[in-house]
Amino acid sequence: MHIKTRTHTCGALRESDVGAKVTLVGWVHRHRDLGSLIFIDLRDRFGRTQVVIDPKTLPVGHSLGFEYVITVSGEVVRRKDANPQLATGAIEVVAQEVHILSASAVLPFSVADTISGEAHDELRLQYRYLDMRRGPILDNLVLRHRAMMATRAFLDARGFVEVTTPILGKSTPEGARDYLVPSRIYPGSFYALPQSPQLFKQILMIGGLDRYFQIATCFRDEDLRADRQPEFSQIDIEMSFATHEELFPIIESLVQQIFTSCKDATLPSPFPQMSYDTCMELYGTDKPDLRFGMEFIKLNELAMQLPFPVFQEALGNGGIVKGFTVTGGADISRKGIEELTSYVELLGGKGLIWMKLVDGELSSSIRKYVTAENAACWIERLKMQKGDAAFIVAGPVRKTHQLLDHLRRRIARERNYIQAHHFAPLWVTDFPLFAYNEEESRLESEHHPFTCPHLEDLHLLDTAPLKARSSSYDLVLNGYEIASGSQRIHDSALQEKIFLTLGISPEERVNRFGFFIEALRYGTPPHLGIALGFDRLMMILAGTESIRDIVAFPKTQKAQDLMTKAPSQVSEQQLKELKIKI
Ligand code: AMO
Repeated sequence: MHIKTRTHTCGALRESDVGAKVTLVGWVHRHRDLGSLIFIDLRDRFGRTQVVIDPKTLPVGHSLGFEYVITVSGEVVRRKDANPQLATGAIEVVAQEVHILSASAVLPFSVADTISGEAHDELRLQYRYLDMRRGPILDNLVLRHRAMMATRAFLDARGFVEVTTPILGKSTPEGARDYLVPSRIYPGSFYALPQSPQLFKQILMIGGLDRYFQIATCFRDEDLRADRQPEFSQIDIEMSFATHEELFPIIESLVQQIFTSCKDATLPSPFPQMSYDTCMELYGTDKPDLRFGMEFIKLNELAMQLPFPVFQEALGNGGIVKGFTVTGGADISRKGIEELTSYVELLGGKGLIWMKLVDGELSSSIRKYVTAENAACWIERLKMQKGDAAFIVAGPVRKTHQLLDHLRRRIARERNYIQAHHFAPLWVTDFPLFAYNEEESRLESEHHPFTCPHLEDLHLLDTAPLKARSSSYDLVLNGYEIASGSQRIHDSALQEKIFLTLGISPEERVNRFGFFIEALRYGTPPHLGIALGFDRLMMILAGTESIRDIVAFPKTQKAQDLMTKAPSQVSEQQLKELKIKI
């Protein structure tokens, strides 16, 4: 087959090229057959160009179809009906020679149309390469590439060394299930795919590397959501002899650098910081979206004075009464309030209390319990101005926070409080060291077991471990956790103590972490680190709400690759070699 070299891409030609002899290659995007002439849009990654073809120039017995790959040689002419929507819209190419390089079978869906809607999702994933041709996915892959290049250049310039750590390894606890790979040579033994390179990067510090990074693929068998994939990438970082005061500005500049190279967006500098406790008080979540206000206000004292049974019951059971004010929210209709109430109930709440301030008068679903004198206190406490509304929930602390967090985000979305291209980062610090796993009645690490406790809370490890804070931090952006890290334990005795507090038996400790505890004994530098969820960051940068849009070959909610049909069964022979019986 004769393949002519292209002279231009399909996005390159302009009015100044009129008269030029050119050769283009690409896919037949659209075509209109007028009998004596065929008009096609020829497409490649760079754009589209209109081509006019006399059917006689086509190879004898051939016609063109959607997504055929062709070469066109011809002359650039000015277009009579210029298309200002298209970069090449001022010109068209009059074909003198056409070669068909590849025909296309009938398409399962149109590449030329923008498809949306759930119905097509599975088909689009099955034919990912056709979906790619539609544009946005390829744009996202290019964006991703740019961010990776910026990351590598930035970290290299600051003395970080990229090291590839093993994929076939031993389980590291990051809170999810492991993907296991059976060993053929040691039947009954398994490698675990890394949930993160956590222990390897710490050991690189023990080995003296000083500053490490890696764009690392991580594997976690966990429940999937719109911002989670079973395999995903982290910008994984570790450094020795440093504290978070040195790390934070590096990460802030790195994120800014990625934003600058991918999008013309400026982030605040420095990023604001907030302790976990304050964060929960004000937003009821450890990943608050700071693009809009509506901070929570504790109302216990005022609520105590009202003979309203719901408040009395909540407070009597050690719960809270909390709410937030919506500026201008008095225009939320009765139906709107009913919908918000149903939403709260759907999430497991018992109800929603509202207040509105119109013409200096307080109206409320609990108006009959509020005296005139009290009303002024509520208005003041809730910082309500004329035309505002407030929403209040009473109940157990965790549940109330959860409900108000959902409500706050929903109201912000519905009332268009979220500006496009607004990026609000936040460092959340001082997380609790442990959380209590109710199902398994045991303590577990809030971050991971290698996280250093707050030194002034060390005494709490024996007496009140759930009150101990850790030297950990998350970076939150627009309501997403985009990074997480901590100061590490560099003392083997303290590391042993944490394993003990977590109830990990001495045997399990040796089996799983013996090599690591041993390594800690030989002069470990103080070190700390962080991992940025690269895909999540890219998702925010690309302005999409689905992580699938920025991954080349994503998996479904059920962890399947619909294109290759993975996971799939393997042959009897393979199982036999691995000594596995199903
Ligand atoms: P962590 O488990 O918090 O920390 O992960 C770091 C960041 O990775 C992203 N992330 C994910 N992205 C997509 N899909 C997933 N399934 C997924 N899980 C996590 C998040 C998260 O903030 N070893 C530690 C880091 C450290 O301490 O240095 C770790 O992996 O954005």
